Amino acid sequence: MPCAVVAGGFWGDEGKGKIISYLALKDGLDVCVRTGSVNAAHTIWFEGKRYALHMVPGGFVNGSCRLLIGAGANVHVAQFLKEVAETGVGGRIGVDSQASVIEEKHSSQDKASEFLKGLGTTGWGVGPAVEERVRRTAKVARDVPELKRYLADVAVETNEALDSGKTVLLEGTQGLFLSLFHGSYPFVTSRDTSASAICSEAGVGPTRVDEVILVFKSFVTRVGTGPLPGEISKDEAVKRGWFETAAGTGRDRRSAPFSFELGRKAAAINGATQLAVTKLDCVFPECSGVRVFEDLSVEAKQFIDRVEVETKVPVCFVGTGPDALDLIDRRK
Ligand code: IMP
Ligand code: MG
Repeated sequence: MPCAVVAGGFWGDEGKGKIISYLALKDGLDVCVRTGSVNAAHTIWFEGKRYALHMVPGGFVNGSCRLLIGAGANVHVAQFLKEVAETGVGGRIGVDSQASVIEEKHSSQDKASEFLKGLGTTGWGVGPAVEERVRRTAKVARDVPELKRYLADVAVETNEALDSGKTVLLEGTQGLFLSLFHGSYPFVTSRDTSASAICSEAGVGPTRVDEVILVFKSFVTRVGTGPLPGEISKDEAVKRGWFETAAGTGRDRRSAPFSFELGRKAAAINGATQLAVTKLDCVFPECSGVRVFEDLSVEAKQFIDRVEVETKVPVCFVGTGPDALDLIDRRK
């Protein structure tokens, strides 16, 4: 799998961090490029410790993986430096010199806007930072002295890695229905979150991509406002074991049953070649920790089969618990 893109199929928080960390270890990932911005937190369990990463790519769990932040990303300098220290990756992380910088003023503008408050943004200021980029007045990474030692040409480096046969993963953030173009506008984030946009932010052309891995959770969650088909109450979510709070902001996540209709649309727009379905154990508790497909319950197997039939894409990864290895890998 020389070049894979990992994208979210719903409203983010599908468990991309878990899938990325598994692939980083299992497939001996050489390069992991993060896109998006600080508003997204990827939760990763590694060596008994939980990380909620807003900046550092999930491939950090593999000590020999080069970590990059693409030109289309937005860098929050303080958060970046904090996570670099926490994960100890200072010697192997690079930031594209043209990645935008998200500043404190952007967060203040985000929080002061009644309109953005109405959308339930994360408050990090990503929308105002992107506005500045579009006006061509944004600061970029090369303008920030603290980032000097990390500067890289991510697009060139990533394409050269592919030329020399290395394994590259392009790490998406959020999910298709938060896409500025394809999501539930205006209740969306400030960028396109689809696989094509992930490639564009990293600087990798579509012909170079071998696999698009689309990640679904076994139920749907969303934070912030906007439509959520089939939404259930918080009490019901707690009863079903689906209640979650956001890794980044701590807000309650709203929840709904898995939607095949949304799944079909997300698979199509992302051009998915492989699916991951995470948290199967939250819907089918008897599947907790199962690592062999045949050992899943009949109902769970029927659910996975139906996901494949409806989306016409194979479910290659099934998550059955929080540990990176609580996962069924069905790739041939
Ligand atoms: P913003 O991206 O902070 O502007 O927020 C816009 C919308 O996207 C809000 O509904 C947020 O809750 C949502 N959002 C942004 N990032 C994430 C994420 O990583 N996971 C889930 N929702 C997110
Ligand atoms: Mg998240």
